[in-house]
Amino acid sequence: MEMGICYGGVPTKIHNNTMGIRGYDFIEFYSGAGKMFAYWHAKAMGLDIVAYKGPETGHRDRMSFLLASESNPNFKIVITSALQPETYDIHSFLNRHGDGVKRWTVEVDNVEVTYAKALKNGAIPVKDPYKLEDKDGYVDMAAIRLYDDCEINFVNYDNYKGLFQPGFEKPHFDWNIERNDTGLKGIDHIVGNVNINEMDYWASYINKSLDFETFVDFGPGDISTQYSALISKVVRSKDDIIKNPINEPYDGLKRSQIEEYIMQYHGSGIQHIAILTTDIITTVSNLRKNGVEFLDPPPNSYYEDIASKDFGLTEDIKELQKNNILIDVEGKGYLLQIFTKPIGDRPTFFYEIIQRRKGASGFGQGNFQALFEAIEVDQAKRGNLDK
Ligand code: FE2
Repeated sequence: MEMGICYGGVPTKIHNNTMGIRGYDFIEFYSGAGKMFAYWHAKAMGLDIVAYKGPETGHRDRMSFLLASESNPNFKIVITSALQPETYDIHSFLNRHGDGVKRWTVEVDNVEVTYAKALKNGAIPVKDPYKLEDKDGYVDMAAIRLYDDCEINFVNYDNYKGLFQPGFEKPHFDWNIERNDTGLKGIDHIVGNVNINEMDYWASYINKSLDFETFVDFGPGDISTQYSALISKVVRSKDDIIKNPINEPYDGLKRSQIEEYIMQYHGSGIQHIAILTTDIITTVSNLRKNGVEFLDPPPNSYYEDIASKDFGLTEDIKELQKNNILIDVEGKGYLLQIFTKPIGDRPTFFYEIIQRRKGASGFGQGNFQALFEAIEVDQAKRGNLDK
């Protein structure tokens, strides 16, 4: 990371929020087949296996893989699976939701201070501050509750010199994976889907607990297709380093993608993580070569419409169209984005790849129509569109 440039998701000690939040830290998935889930992230997403925890490192009940981006080692994903029948926290999560995001973490200046403030503001405690220790020092952590089985964790590594966290060691294996460089830079935003009548509760819970604010509020009618609809609120830290949209289904003629998610996930949870790149055309074409599946392209008229607008597009529109990348013009800026198909067995979690240009700060509102219609094509194939 270059000095002075914040990619989002890259913790920096220079921040401007009352909770001492430095930025996104790792995301942790629970998976029924952690090794294969990790392999997919290495091969398809182009991430490196940086550290490992499991029986070989003295942990007999679970196995965890830490993956990070070569372009930015601070972009971290942990994938964990259970090795024993009594590893209940993982089994109960997987039994209900399938593979999914258990927790997202933020690095903070002082875990005890942030946790105490969050609880005072109404956060529901999950785990009081604790230390993980080994010969390299200690890592501070604590957790508060988020919707359903999901958590937000606070973490601080200032007193730790090791690879990641105590228990993790350099991988004892080499999968010798050939793949194309994907240039993933960090987390831009994390989106949750919640059950009917829960969005306002969770938006206000996060806002109060973490001293965040509502940045955008999409009401009924703002986001809908011919068949389905949703409502959405974007909550964010006041310095904009953490952004968390929350979607809720809204009544439509057919079943919305949010309803499908909740039905298949059996509850509320993380729907997608948007990952930043500074060269979306190369990133997406290399992800495709690595085997990542993206949603179907919008109609040709979508690109004809964009081409007719004069907003200083730097990229070659033919290259964008070739890669099915969506464009959303926003004042003097614009953003480029694309969505993968769900990565696991159920139509639940997926990734977004995003590049922000000239200060664009939105979430691709102009693309909602094209996006949702593309998702509905797949929903219909799964038999989940009709109510
Ligand atoms: Fe998004």
